[in-house]
Amino acid sequence: MKTALIIGITGQDGSYLAELLLAEGYRVHGLVRRASMFNRARIDPLRAGAPGEERLVLHYGDLNDRTSLRRMLRKVAPDEIYHLAGQSHVGLSFEIPEVTCEDNAMATLGLLEVVRDLDRPVRFYHASSSEIFGVPKAGPQTAATPVEPVNPYGCAKAFATQLCRVYRQAYGLFACSGIAYNHESPRRGENFVTRKISLSAARIRAGRQEELHLGNLDARRDWGYAPEYVQAMWRMLQAGQADDFVLATGRTCTVREFAQAAFAELGLELVFEGSGVAEVGRRTDNGRVVLRVDPRYFRPAESSALVGDPAAARERLGWAPRTVGADVARLMARADAEAG
Ligand code: NAP
Ligand code: GDD
Repeated sequence: MKTALIIGITGQDGSYLAELLLAEGYRVHGLVRRASMFNRARIDPLRAGAPGEERLVLHYGDLNDRTSLRRMLRKVAPDEIYHLAGQSHVGLSFEIPEVTCEDNAMATLGLLEVVRDLDRPVRFYHASSSEIFGVPKAGPQTAATPVEPVNPYGCAKAFATQLCRVYRQAYGLFACSGIAYNHESPRRGENFVTRKISLSAARIRAGRQEELHLGNLDARRDWGYAPEYVQAMWRMLQAGQADDFVLATGRTCTVREFAQAAFAELGLELVFEGSGVAEVGRRTDNGRVVLRVDPRYFRPAESSALVGDPAAARERLGWAPRTVGADVARLMARADAEAG
């Protein structure tokens, strides 16, 4: 039985990856942080088994507590490490740049150092991001596209991605970065735009919310479905050779189009009148639904033109995303409506 350690197991991707690895017969260890309230809803259903026989074992720790990380890694002795943890909100990275860089950049370096010192070889996955490309001049992007991030989050991920390459080349570590484009699901955090939209659509239909406030409606993203992306992460660590891969659908839609698809799925029509800092709205059978453009959600700088080329992942990992853009919007809106 192989052993995997997931750092960031309580997050969206960590929870789907834990499910996948358990289904593949792994023993799975996960790092959890102390929080003032339990925040393990995404993984609670996976925690079955008699004491001592569980295949999912959780350990308290933190990316910034390097000594306990080192100790835990020695104790768990994983075959594979999936490093998914960090401050994952791009907009917030402008407000908390130091934490973002500590957690996403320096902590990754710390982990690579621990892994380098382990007695046995370990395969290491790092959750990199399309944000390393910033506003690329050409698309679709590949792992060879120049790195020019435009926000603190992207800078931190760029640093960590390059370090993984350095440790692969210099020390022969099996370290890979998945350069992932946006992937969403009903487990997405509530302050990412897709989940904000799907939850709002469900609440507005149920009469529990009146308005939806969003930022840049014209932002365009390459949106895929998270359970499909964790498949690619796993396949990267099963490959014959360590490498970085772009994980993307190759197609994009705007925030506006995503919102329209989610609302339409629940029988609500969104008509956008005007643009910029203005009230836009329309009427439904249930009454007035308003979508407000709120400058609070604008970012000091926006990444754009991000669309990934999944060809290398398809050819070398046999991975192809199936659920794209508006399909994801419909699936998320349905899930939030059904959850009540
Ligand atoms: P997420 O839902 O925000 O999950 C982040 C995870 O990191 C959570 O388990 C969180 O724990 C943990 N974490 C944060 N800071 C930590 C710290 N100091 N010590 C220990 N754990 C910490 O993110 P996600 O969407 O699953 O994404 C996973 C990774 O992929 C992230 O690194 C993200 O930046 C990257 N990524 C995501 C996407 C995407 O579209 N989803 C695309 C590209 C890259 P708590 O639950 O305790 O907060
Ligand atoms: N969060 C948020 N909230 N974004 C909004 C809003 C809003 O109310 N209104 C418009 N947007 C726009 C943002 O300006 C951005 O252009 C786009 O919607 C997507 O924002 P997010 O959902 O926050 O995702 P992201 O693209 O910035 O970052 C996600 O994807 C990256 C990979 O491309 C995160 O998962 C990152 O961790 C990940 O690396």
